[in-house]
Amino acid sequence: MADPQTLLGTSAESIAAAVGVLAHNGLVGMPTETVYGLAADACSDVGVASVFSAKARPVDHPLIVHVAGADGVNHFAARVPGFAQRLIDAFWPGPLTLILPRRAGVATAAAAGQDSVGLRCPSHPVAQALLRACERQGMVGLAAPSANRFGRISPTTAAHVRSELGANLLILDGGPCTVGIESTIVDCTRSAPVVLRPGMLSLAQLETACACPVFTPATLEQSDARTPRVPGSLESHYAPLATLRLLDAQAIQTAIDSLFAQAPTALPEVAAASALYSRTLPCRVPLGLHQRRMPQDAASAARELFAVLRELDGIGVQQIWVEAPPASPEWDGVRDRLQRACTS
Ligand code: TXA
Ligand code: MG
Repeated sequence: MADPQTLLGTSAESIAAAVGVLAHNGLVGMPTETVYGLAADACSDVGVASVFSAKARPVDHPLIVHVAGADGVNHFAARVPGFAQRLIDAFWPGPLTLILPRRAGVATAAAAGQDSVGLRCPSHPVAQALLRACERQGMVGLAAPSANRFGRISPTTAAHVRSELGANLLILDGGPCTVGIESTIVDCTRSAPVVLRPGMLSLAQLETACACPVFTPATLEQSDARTPRVPGSLESHYAPLATLRLLDAQAIQTAIDSLFAQAPTALPEVAAASALYSRTLPCRVPLGLHQRRMPQDAASAARELFAVLRELDGIGVQQIWVEAPPASPEWDGVRDRLQRACTS
């Protein structure tokens, strides 16, 4: 039987049902192009409190507020520096979140009391339809963190949201997310932009759009400005249940060879409990080792990354060996998520 709470996001009835839930301080699973979000009216303290408790998220960890278009910014932000406006013009709607000074008295709970607010305008047509319909009902923004329990892998399908957050949530199904990892976050509360979380927009793309240098926390430190707040530092793990090890192709082959050498009798057991996710396939692997081929390009790898980690967790492997992505900038977002996943 079809799950009555997962609605086809593209139908007008589904959008109306979701708006009804949000208007009564309820929660909705919302597809975006990056990952699925768990949405509440950004100005409803009750709704926002439910998001924190559904995710078991510490209440001092601010939520991103989603708006339908650049107009929504003025409702929440006290000030938009020129470089931030240029980023909005270049990348919205799209996978970019800006941290801006917050207007006093708006979205206080969503911002976890900070004097800044994270704003994002998603391009996914279902998110757009929902945000526009909410706006017509006087709800200017939706606070939505990724729709996973705190510290877990972000969901990229409606089924992932269901498995994370249980049976009673209304979820709009917008299909698999096309970007696959969370938005790039740029702090625009200082005199220069600082990337706090890499995503699929490269530093070079951001710098071209802003027409000024864009820092990372590391380059900012070298430049004697203050140390930034780093969002995501608490929710650091994005973790699968299995232990994840990042290795280069050569190290993977060496580890596999040493398995053959050291534990020939235990090989089937080790193989069944392990998985390999790599771009280059090793020459010889133990029979029964779960293998997934990582795409050669960063965009495709990002799109499938979280779904593959979930799938391998679902099989019940205890170890996932992942080939480290190339050092080039287009892999920054994928590399960041994998590094977080293996430090848990
Ligand atoms: O792609 C995305 O950004 C997804 C989709 C659903 O839009 N959302 C998402 O939300 O990844 P979440 O809550 O899982 O991650 C948001 C990050 C957190 O690390 C939080 O600390 C940071 O953004 N953040 C939000 N508002 C902030 C603020 N005012 N100041 C500093 N950091 C902020
Ligand atoms: Mg998250």
